[in-house]
Amino acid sequence: MDMMELVKTRRSVRTFDGRPLTDEDENRLRAYMRDIPNPYGIPVRSLLLDAREHGLSSPVIVGESCYVTAKVDKVPHSEEAFGYSFEKLVLYAWSLGIGTTWIGGTMKRSLFEQAAEVQDGEWMFCVSPLGYPAEKMSAREGLMRKAIKADERKDARQLFYEGGFSVPLAAEDEMLRDALEMVRWAPSATNSQPWRVVRAGNDFHFYLAHTKGYTDKAGWDMQKIDMGIALCHFMGAMGGKLVLSDPGIPSAEGTEYIATVTV
Ligand SMILES: Cc1cc2nc3c(=O)[nH]c(=O)nc-3n(C[C@H](O)[C@H](O)[C@H](O)COP(=O)(O)O)c2cc1C
Repeated sequence: MDMMELVKTRRSVRTFDGRPLTDEDENRLRAYMRDIPNPYGIPVRSLLLDAREHGLSSPVIVGESCYVTAKVDKVPHSEEAFGYSFEKLVLYAWSLGIGTTWIGGTMKRSLFEQAAEVQDGEWMFCVSPLGYPAEKMSAREGLMRKAIKADERKDARQLFYEGGFSVPLAAEDEMLRDALEMVRWAPSATNSQPWRVVRAGNDFHFYLAHTKGYTDKAGWDMQKIDMGIALCHFMGAMGGKLVLSDPGIPSAEGTEYIATVTV
């Protein structure tokens, strides 16, 4: 599967068939996890956690046998770096037929942090179960997907702009159309899709349209993880170079400049 197919077919999997990962799949995952780079150059250290050994679970997940998480140092942009690298892992797992769900809320965070041996100078933002999707999703998962409209995304005209925030972006070539479509179909916390992109010449400026109430008490922002995921999808399709240089384009209140991809 190419990246577009992976992005379009991936969904959060919350009902697994109970089978542990095969040795072959686990070895492949472990090899991939050794180094998952991101354009911020911030190391994202991922690790597998045995659910039974550590007593790990999530109220929305059924039939999982293990979890994956990652740790980052508490440095600026660690959320975006985490989002970027962890999403690469999510897509790689999907290429092996392994289901995942980004989980940042519905878990006993302290238990996972203990299992992952998170130190004072580190953050462990999210975890994901790993396993093989069950043939039928649980009733609870079905209801959850409906409530959150998980199979829908905002219209491209609400997300992508030209020059400023008033003119919708008309993507003339197929590569760019694909890249934007991959951003559009990215997963995000509560499916809020907070990414906005403004094209100016060869620069694609990424903004975060904040949803109220998302800044965690611990001082990090779940929606910046969503932004890292969007950047992962965009740069996976377009390549380019990440720069942090706010172009000063007037934006609505609550819309924050995150990064620019120059292609
Ligand atoms: C940063 C982040 C945190 C998330 N946290 C949770 C969570 O705590 N519990 C959960 O069930 N889903 C969680 N999700 C999954 C989203 O609800 C899901 O990606 C979104 O509804 C779109 O559905 P899809 O992944 O099936 O395309 C999270 C997703 C992201 C990106």
